[in-house]
Amino acid sequence: MKETVAIAHPNFALVKYWGKKDSNQNRPAMSSISVTVDSMISKTKIFKNIQSNHHQLFINGKEESDLSKILPPLEYLSEFSGTDEYLVIESQNNFPTSSGLASSASGIASFVTAYEAHYNLCLDINHKVEASMLGSGSAPRSLIGGFVFMDHKDNYRCSQILKEPEWPLDVLICIASKEPKKISSREGMRASKKTSPIYQDWLDINHKHIDLALNAIKTKNMAALENVAEENCKLMHEVMKTSIPSISYMTDVTYSCLSEIENLRSLGHKLLYTIDAGPQVKIICDPTSSEIIKNRIIETTDVIDIIHAGIGGPPEIINES
Ligand code: DP6
Repeated sequence: MKETVAIAHPNFALVKYWGKKDSNQNRPAMSSISVTVDSMISKTKIFKNIQSNHHQLFINGKEESDLSKILPPLEYLSEFSGTDEYLVIESQNNFPTSSGLASSASGIASFVTAYEAHYNLCLDINHKVEASMLGSGSAPRSLIGGFVFMDHKDNYRCSQILKEPEWPLDVLICIASKEPKKISSREGMRASKKTSPIYQDWLDINHKHIDLALNAIKTKNMAALENVAEENCKLMHEVMKTSIPSISYMTDVTYSCLSEIENLRSLGHKLLYTIDAGPQVKIICDPTSSEIIKNRIIETTDVIDIIHAGIGGPPEIINES
């Protein structure tokens, strides 16, 4: 029986998406910029389900009853394949799932890539963006390697700002907890849009942050990227905090990483941090500083683990039979 396997990498946003324009189509209310990371991988295998007459999704070997993220992309793609066959979708992550490490982005991007190859579809990037976005607003960015811009003013067009080898930075993912998050991004975004008094300011500043980050990345200016990415990250967490109910994904371990980052900065290391909907701290730094940063964070904080990654590429098909 034909099986198709694809891999994709997570991406971390430097200018973030937090809030939807349209919940039905899952459209972000703002543009975003991300970096795709290597080392962390979602691997998804698909094949025809001959055992039952519904789609089945397994994540890390466990069958999921909630298909709400996978069915919209699947239904969109089945318009192109013209098939109504049911699928088994088996997805594995080599990193903690649902804990602010973008597993849904890489999971969905790997699924869309596998589906396209399985049915020989040759879709253009805009259709793959549309399919992925129906699953998760950050997933289209994982269809592209390097630094990626998703432009909400141009129908969510995703484009590459720099290819992965063009600015070879390291990414250190400091794992503060492996527990799944208690409030999903989806739920949190809904609350923020409805209740945060600074949600409109958050929308208004997006354009400025995008311009600053685009410029910083194109000119490979670490200090400028640090300023805009950290300001954007702090503001997103302030939007979360001022929502009702107040949302906080950070823990004491997150805060201790942040304080060590300030110490490292005062010693002259070039680094920036970002934090998403989870307690993990992602550090982007010059490779010459990685080992020192890693050792200092391990020595001075209670992080469980640090994943040492580089800038990643686009999804790949790894096996077709
Ligand atoms: C904080 O893409 O996970 O990581 O569209 O509801 O699936 P859904 O949300 P998701 O949200 C990502 C939020 C973020 C910021 C970002 O990656 O831009």
